[in-house]
Amino acid sequence: MSIETDWQLIRNRFHTYGNPISVAKMERALDLLVLPRGARVLDVGCGKGELLIRLVERFGAAAVGIDPSTVLSMARANAAARIPDADVTWHSAKRDDVPLEPGSFDLTACIGSLHAFGELDDALTALVALTRPGGYVLVADGVRLQTPPPEYLAAIGADDTELPRDNAQNIAAGRAHGLRALWTALSSRDEWDEFEWLYMYAMERHAEEHGLTPEQEEQLVATREFQDAQQRWGRDTMGFGLYLFQVPAG
Ligand SMILES: C[S@@+](CC[C@H](N)C(=O)[O-])C[C@H]1O[C@@H](n2cnc3c(N)ncnc32)[C@H](O)[C@@H]1O
Repeated sequence: MSIETDWQLIRNRFHTYGNPISVAKMERALDLLVLPRGARVLDVGCGKGELLIRLVERFGAAAVGIDPSTVLSMARANAAARIPDADVTWHSAKRDDVPLEPGSFDLTACIGSLHAFGELDDALTALVALTRPGGYVLVADGVRLQTPPPEYLAAIGADDTELPRDNAQNIAAGRAHGLRALWTALSSRDEWDEFEWLYMYAMERHAEEHGLTPEQEEQLVATREFQDAQQRWGRDTMGFGLYLFQVPAG
């Protein structure tokens, strides 16, 4: 499907990363990494592939990206333009369907894609097993900022137990998996706004320029409703945290 018809491509058109952490903070995380040239890096739920492309640009990394969405076509296209000679393997697949060798990566990442494993603890178990001693586990997940108002839960169709834990609990989860917590960053309200509104902007602009199929029209309406709940309650209730952990060297 083309960018004119595929809803995922339409929605993601203007994002650099598909998560609410700013490009500057993602860049800061990359500044802090000490990786050998040619390091092996993995990103599960890699979306448009920006993280892996930047790891290749900085470290000449050998990269593996996994994502079942058509958004992966954007990763392939961006990589072809920016890092044509890189050692990158893009798997258009779910995480479960890609065999990966334990302990073989210098860095494993899962940014806003923890559902590929289940919850944060499931992701940490799997990523720790894939990472060599001394390597990094870079994860990002939602962060609870306050007790969710009942109106917010009703609007998004969730119950309290389905929402993520708070920042201290996310850090403690990493430590409970034997990881060292090296550095974290939380998205600001501005970053959340930028992230959410770029989806809205992309859809509204596409609707204006190309029109929508009936199915896309339904998705746009649902997104507008979600965005209303986000503005009323979501911004005060949910944050997003990026966590740089390290597997002890031994
Ligand atoms: C919020 S996006 C994050 C994209 C990227 N990590 C980033 O920060 O730019 C979540 C991604 O997880 C992917 N995903 C969902 N289920 C998955 C699975 N079972 N295995 C791998 N990726 C999955 C989605 O297709 C989507 O691209």
